[in-house]
Amino acid sequence: MNAVEIKDLYKSYEDGKIKALNGVSLTIKDGEFVSIIGPSGSGKSTLLNMLGALDVPDSGSINVAGHDLRTSKKLNEFRGEKIGFIFQLHNLIPNISVRENIEIPMYTQKMSSGEMKDKALKLLGDVGLEDKADILPNKLSGGERQRVAIARALANEPSIILADEPTGSLDSKTSSKILKLLIDLHKDKNVTLIIVTHDMDVAKLADRVIEVLDGEIISAGDESLINSKIDV
Ligand SMILES: Nc1ncnc2c1ncn2[C@@H]1O[C@H](COP(=O)(O)OP(=O)(O)OP(=O)(O)O)[C@@H](O)[C@H]1O
Ligand SMILES: [Mg+2]
Repeated sequence: MNAVEIKDLYKSYEDGKIKALNGVSLTIKDGEFVSIIGPSGSGKSTLLNMLGALDVPDSGSINVAGHDLRTSKKLNEFRGEKIGFIFQLHNLIPNISVRENIEIPMYTQKMSSGEMKDKALKLLGDVGLEDKADILPNKLSGGERQRVAIARALANEPSIILADEPTGSLDSKTSSKILKLLIDLHKDKNVTLIIVTHDMDVAKLADRVIEVLDGEIISAGDESLINSKIDV
């Protein structure tokens, strides 16, 4: 199955003056690891937002994890069950502890509070922050917050992880650790990993590098280019 099937996706802002996505077609297979690169303003985050059903396209079709995002009436469930979001603005809730932030995605599942706590602590261990469970997010450094956001993104065992510059604000050592964590998940649990990055060293780790320019995909790695030629 394919994790992502997009055809002729268009999205504009400001009454059509800004064309953020200009006819994007893309297929990503289940369990693939792709990176998305391109200059600032080229449409990378817009594309990622579409994949996570955080924004709606003007036209075109978009299917993610078997859900038709343009007709689905269950987008909240889709986001909660299928997608792990790692965005640069971490959006941690300030007045609850680190551990409670990680438990939030678990509320859509049938888990006891003890199970949620155990799982949150295990995830905190995975990102190297077991000793920070009970403090508030504003006591953490930027990189530590990013790691909490990553632990939270993994809490519902998503089939697809969408990461927008996940290592952008991290030092190189922490950055490698985080990448290793994500890549291990991709390898061990067949999670589809889609990472937007400015860093070519990060991009090259992926099975495939997708290049975006002016709202269009100008290169999608070999395989998909061949596929799209066959499609036409
Ligand atoms: N909510 C919005 N309202 C108006 N314009 C927007 C909105 N979101 C994005 N844009 C515009 O759409 C274009 C694509 O933006 P997008 O955020 O997708 O770029 P990006 O490739 O992620 O850039 P960066 O690398 O700087 O994060 C830009 O011209 C941006 O200014
Ligand atoms: Mg962006």
